[in-house]
This record gives sequence, structure tokens and C-alpha cells, in this order.
Amino acid sequence: MSNESLANLLKEERRFAPPAALAAQANVTAEAYERARADRLGFWAAQARRLTWHTEPTETLDWSNPPFAKWFADGKLNVAYNCVDRHVENGLGDRVALHFEGEPGDTRSITYAELQREVSKAANALTELGVQAGDRVAIYLPMIPEAVVSMLACARIGAPHSLVFGGFSADALATRIQDADARVVITADGGYRRGKPSALKPAVDEALTRPGTENVRSVLVVRRTGQEDVAWTEGRDVWWHDLVERQSDRHTPEAFDAEHPLFILYTSGTTGKPKGILHTTGGYLTQVSYTHHAVFDLKPESDVFWCTADVGWVTGHSYIVYGPLSNGATEVLYEGTPDTPHRGRWWEIVQKYGVTILYTAPTAIRAAMKWGDDIPAKFDLSSLRVLGSVGEPINPEAWVWYREHIGAGTTPVVDTWWQTETGGIMISPLPGVTETKPGSAQVPLPGIAATVVDDDANEVPDGAGGYLVLTEPWPSMLRTIWNDDQRFLDTYWSRFEGRYFAGDGAKKDEDGDIWLLGRVDDVMLVSGHNISTTEVESALVSHPKVAEAAVVGATDPQTTQAICAFVILRGEAELGEEESAALVEELRAHVGKQLGPIAKPKRVLPVAELPKTRSGKIMRRLLRDVAENRTLGDVTTLTDSSVMELIQAKLPAAPGED
Ligand code: WT7
Repeated sequence: MSNESLANLLKEERRFAPPAALAAQANVTAEAYERARADRLGFWAAQARRLTWHTEPTETLDWSNPPFAKWFADGKLNVAYNCVDRHVENGLGDRVALHFEGEPGDTRSITYAELQREVSKAANALTELGVQAGDRVAIYLPMIPEAVVSMLACARIGAPHSLVFGGFSADALATRIQDADARVVITADGGYRRGKPSALKPAVDEALTRPGTENVRSVLVVRRTGQEDVAWTEGRDVWWHDLVERQSDRHTPEAFDAEHPLFILYTSGTTGKPKGILHTTGGYLTQVSYTHHAVFDLKPESDVFWCTADVGWVTGHSYIVYGPLSNGATEVLYEGTPDTPHRGRWWEIVQKYGVTILYTAPTAIRAAMKWGDDIPAKFDLSSLRVLGSVGEPINPEAWVWYREHIGAGTTPVVDTWWQTETGGIMISPLPGVTETKPGSAQVPLPGIAATVVDDDANEVPDGAGGYLVLTEPWPSMLRTIWNDDQRFLDTYWSRFEGRYFAGDGAKKDEDGDIWLLGRVDDVMLVSGHNISTTEVESALVSHPKVAEAAVVGATDPQTTQAICAFVILRGEAELGEEESAALVEELRAHVGKQLGPIAKPKRVLPVAELPKTRSGKIMRRLLRDVAENRTLGDVTTLTDSSVMELIQAKLPAAPGED
């Protein structure tokens, strides 16, 4: 970003008060902000008591060697005990923990008592394979119950896990196994994806031929699809059903230090090799447990929670596994895609299990918007009482659609900002407290300190934009980058002295509420103004004909960068040339009217698909390559590389005239 602070263009005036009934019974009220403000560390010490400690901590935060934090350092606990055993001991063994829904339609409901037996067996199995506390275990599985069981089994024996998303290639898997120096890999023959079995084991076999993976002693393989041609390395590979099933279903959990590593999760970032984000035990579990309770208002005896993320992402770690299970929740685990076998599959699942809290990503909401209002309308979604969003800025129009068409126009939407690095939710409305604003994550949670600063680290006034920073340590913060303390310091702590730099642009509105404006790398510089891609995209999505938009700044001799917009239209209709030209003009004028003439895109290109990462984020970097007629950069994290060919084919060779 240049020295000009981020322009503040979007005016969104809609406001939604919390439903009175929800507010009256809310888990967390406005008083929590006061309490946390008065004594932030005391507040977190109190939240730590949500957990069952083997040794209660007497210390809260050790910040004597910043930014290397220690939370609750003299406490000891076992994460799996907190997520499973203690609920059984409290008489809740018969409560369903997981309603598993396989993509082909197979189902399995697992109670807390069963989960305890499954996790114990898996912990015994890993121990038999020689896994000891501190050894890393790579997990490369589809969204099946064994993924959750494996994570908890690792946690139970103090072996940090490293999940690798099942959609990643052998290369990505190999890099992650090498960097973490994993000793065991847990995988499956395959998983179901879009109605077909999709193999996983071959990628493991290939990854393990690479140098630097020699320390992998065993590969534990779940039989999921029953494919017949599973290659087998004797002495290394072992079937889950052979090894795990014969173990004792009793296992005594050992207490670990609060700062014992719980997991490593790799995040790719825009450049360089993936960063192994390290999370530890006591602080992480405290914050994910508290935020799950507070942000979703979870009532474990009656709610059915569903987070649609994959367990391979941090959202799955924190809000499928550790947050909900530490709170004794009942939740849905769905293996497949939202449009298999039909585009109503998610809404059918909500109806079937009576889902009360749904947590998903803007990309999924925009896809549902594009598919049409009539699809969710066919299902009974009246059980829903809280809706959450995460992963990207949510455009106000998509936010309002979500509330209207999924939430019956009454269900509060919470837009939750956080990162792999933050471990848990940081900025979000509270459903029983906050008057919500479509498109804004609004306020730091109680006990969290965030603000927006300019290039010189000065806090911007209300109404202005700049960089999002976190100004105080928080319990679920990353402790370092695995094997690379220097990179940890350089990436997050060197831009602004003593503050965590999140890499996101943000603005404060007149009330001081925070609006996220996308990654700083994506901010455009147009005639001396920094303009957020998010705001221009939101203006485009607010046009009734646009379902989704991606905006980039392409180098331009006159204006430094020129705004170039790629849009997906609602409905399926292909436009003729003339119609298309008219629509482009209409959209440019629409943005000009919404945001001002400076934000008017120079070019608007209707496209069928947008390039996305496997977690659903738009890859603007590739669109910039296209807009500047360059050869494409690294496409390995793209879901579907044919998308880029389609987009390039649509683009005229030289930039069109204004
Ligand atoms: C980046 C972190 C947090 C779990 C999933 C993503 C963007 C995330 C929001 C939101 C605007 C958001 C940010 C952030 N992001 N949530 N509610 N509003 N932007 O984890 O892959 O580590 O990505 O996602 O740019 O820095 P991640």
C-alpha cells in the first residue's frame, strides 16, 4: 500500500438488532466486554476455567520474551480428555457428538461414549506404532469420522498433528511431511467427491518416495471407498481396521503442559514455502472453547451445530473438532460437496438433522445465491437460529441474502474474522448483543484488542482505513512458525513495533466498527488512491444481475493501476455480444454511483467461473496476470486450472478502451 491510506468508499446503512428472544437467553451479554476491558488477563484466566485441568494454572500470560507468548504455562491438561472423556464422566455419554453424513448417503451417529472408545483405540494403536509425545503425525484424510478420531488420538498422546487437506497433491503433502519431519501418516484409500471415489493413498505413496520423508515409519490406512487397487508397502502400511479395531477401548490420558504443541497447520501465503503455524494446548483450547460458546451462543443440550469447512483447514480444527467437542456439542460432519447429488444437498442436511447453527464461507453463500432462491426454499430451515460466515470479507448483498433466504429474515448473521495464525475467532458480532451491519465483522471479542493503523503505525480515526493490527497477545495465538522463529518475527511482528500485523486492509466506520477490506497485497492504487478490491466487488455484487465478482488492479500508464473486474452473472443465461456490452456499461455506472467515479472499473469481464484456492478464496494474483497479459504464475493451489484457460480465452489480447 502507498502512503495514501485506504479510501473508505462503501456506505452500508442497513442495521439488524439481535432477536429479543435470543438476547434474553444469550450465553454472553454486553457485560463481558466491560469485564474484559477492566481486567483482560483476569477475563482469560476465568475462561480457562471452562476447561478441566489436571493441574490448574496459577499464571495467565508470560510475555517476558515477546512475541513468544506463554499462556497458562504452569497448568497441565489433556485436550482429548476435555473434548471427550469429561462429557462421558458428566453423564452425557449417550449424547451424539457427530452426525456423520457421507457423500453417497451413508450415515453414522457417534455418541460421546462411542467417541471415547474410538479415540482410546486409536491412541493405543498409535502407541503400538511407536508414536511418542512430541512425534509429529501427518493426517491426510477425507471428511470422515476417522479424521476427528485421529486428531483427538494424537492430542491424547501428545503427538502434534499436521493435517494436509485431502485435495492437495503429492507435492504439497511431501513438503509438509518433510518440514514437520512426520513419523506416521494417517490416510485412506480414498474419499467421495462429486459422486465418485477419489483416491488418496497414491499421493501418499508418491510423497514418500521424496527425499526428506524417510522418517515416516508407518502409514495407517482407513478403508473408506473400498477401491480394489490399493498399492501396499509391506512393513510400512497397515489397515486401520486391522490395527485400530483390535486395540483396547480403554486408554488413560496423560496430562501435558499448557504450552505442549498441539498441532502444526501449514498456510501457503502468497509467496515462499508454506509456513507451519504452531499452536499449543491450554491457550488454544481456552479460546476456541470460549469463542464457540460466545459467538454461536451454543446451548449444547439443544443445539445442532454444523461447520461446513474441511477438517484440513483451521476452521475445521477449531470449529469442528476442538471448540464444539470441548463444549459437548452435537454436530454434523459432511463429507461431500454442496451440489452432490443436487444443489439442495446442504439444505436437505439442515432439515434432516434440525441444524440450529450453521457456519460457512462467503464463497458457498454466493454459489447458493447464484443457483437460485427457489432451491433453499424447498426445505424446512426453520431450526436455524444463528448463521456464521468466515474466510473472506462477505459482501453486504451476500450477507443479506444469507439472512433472508437461509435465515428466514430473522436469524442473526455473525461475520467472524480470524486466521490460521490467530487460532480462534478474533473479531465478530455477538448474536445476542451486537446490532449487526451487513459486511462488517465489527468488534473485537471480549479480551481481544485490535485496531486499524496507517503506514506510520498511528491509529486511524473513525471513518478512515489502513492496516488491521492486533495490539495485545491472545490465548490461541500462533507460538511461532515451525522451525523458523525468524520468519515468525519478520512476517508478523516487524511491520509495526510491538503489534501483530495481520496482512489485511481494514477501515473503521463512524461508530469505530471494523470492516475488512481484503489482503493488503490485493489493495489497488488508482490515481493516488488506495482502493479496496472488496469494496468494488461488493458494489458489483449489489447489482441484481451479479452473483460474484473479483476485482484486480492492472498496471496502467495513466492511473498507475486500472480497476479490472471479473463477474459471474446470476442465473445461467449466456449473453449476446450487444447485451453483454450494455451490461458492462450498466455495471460500470452502478459502481460509479455506489462508490464514486474513482472506483469505476475500467474493464468488466463476464466469466463463468473464478479461480479459487481449495478453501474458496479468490486468487486475484492469477487474475492480475491475465489482466496484464502475463503468463500465469503458480497455479498449484487452484481448485480447477481449466478455469484460467476459460478466462484467458475470453480476454481480448490488448486492454480495451475506456
Ligand atoms: C485470512 C485468513 C479464519 C479461518 C479461515 C481462513 C481472510 C477470514 C474473514 C472475514 C474478511 C476474512 C482474511 C484473513 N478472512 N475471515 N470474516 N472477513 N476476511 O483462514 O486461510 O488463515 O485466512 O482470511 O484475509 O487474513 P486463513
